[in-house]
Amino acid sequence: MSSEKISSHDHYSEYDTWAWLYNETMGPQYRQNQLQPLEKMLLPQISPNAELLDVCCGTGHLVQNLIERGYQLTGIDGSEQMLNYARKNAPQGKFILADARTFELPPTFDAVFSTSASLNHIMSIAELKQVFQRVYTALQNNGIFFFDINHHEQMERWWNGEVVEGEIKSTYAWTLTPKYNSSERTGHFKVTMFQSKSQPKFSPIRSIWYFLSPLLNKLQNISLFYKIRLKLLRLFQSQEKNWQPIDVSYPVRGHQPEELKIALQEIGFVDINICTLEGSTTIDNKHSAYFICRK
Ligand SMILES: C[S@@+](CC[C@H](N)C(=O)[O-])C[C@H]1O[C@@H](n2cnc3c(N)ncnc32)[C@H](O)[C@@H]1O
Repeated sequence: MSSEKISSHDHYSEYDTWAWLYNETMGPQYRQNQLQPLEKMLLPQISPNAELLDVCCGTGHLVQNLIERGYQLTGIDGSEQMLNYARKNAPQGKFILADARTFELPPTFDAVFSTSASLNHIMSIAELKQVFQRVYTALQNNGIFFFDINHHEQMERWWNGEVVEGEIKSTYAWTLTPKYNSSERTGHFKVTMFQSKSQPKFSPIRSIWYFLSPLLNKLQNISLFYKIRLKLLRLFQSQEKNWQPIDVSYPVRGHQPEELKIALQEIGFVDINICTLEGSTTIDNKHSAYFICRK
């Protein structure tokens, strides 16, 4: 992603390449994962039929979940391909192709949210302030802004250039490898997508994966099983010869919670709270930071 100033016609479209896979994998998975912080921190504070804006809505899985609960939803995203899936996944949602840094919407929303650390894609505080300003403008007075980020210390600790997630299916596979440069406070995660056009040839690693994956998926919260899962994915990544890999890299910035708090204050947000999902106000390197504030 470019960190240069963008014109109002540009938008962040890097997810176009990943969209088909995201729609199969992360999208449905995040629908569940991201609901929990919303249920804990945002939804109890808004009315049952509130008007909500999802900034960086991706494939719209979360939008659909919230529509099913009675809310009115609009989603914006810079990737046309992600939005094509969003329109199918959430037919009653309203979707707008726009950049988070430049979108313009009137102040009609009761709350605006952004999940799955999407704002880590914004590569400077100056650009992040552009996003905050757009959100501020779109909120009604007293409206709530809620978002999460991966922060500097967390990325410094965990983004080591090793495969941390992935899957091997019958006709495709993928791995995700995050890496962070602490001194530059920037990093990227690489998504490697493997596709097999013909019937894939026999491979011992894939066979072991197919045999073990129901168990490994079920028990991945247990450290040993998680490690075996990753070991198999890393072996697949380094040794699979029959499937063609395509790498896409997504730059991200390691934001500091305190500097984001100052940026929010400068835009005019008040009642700014930063905490972990568990509700702790100590943001250590094991936890993402959740922000909730008010216009
Ligand atoms: C990690 S995905 C999260 C998608 C969705 N919120 C979820 O939880 O599944 C990040 C999304 O942010 C979008 N995005 C990143 N930077 C953006 C920008 N500057 N403007 C608009 N969308 C952006 C990408 O296109 C992508 O769909």
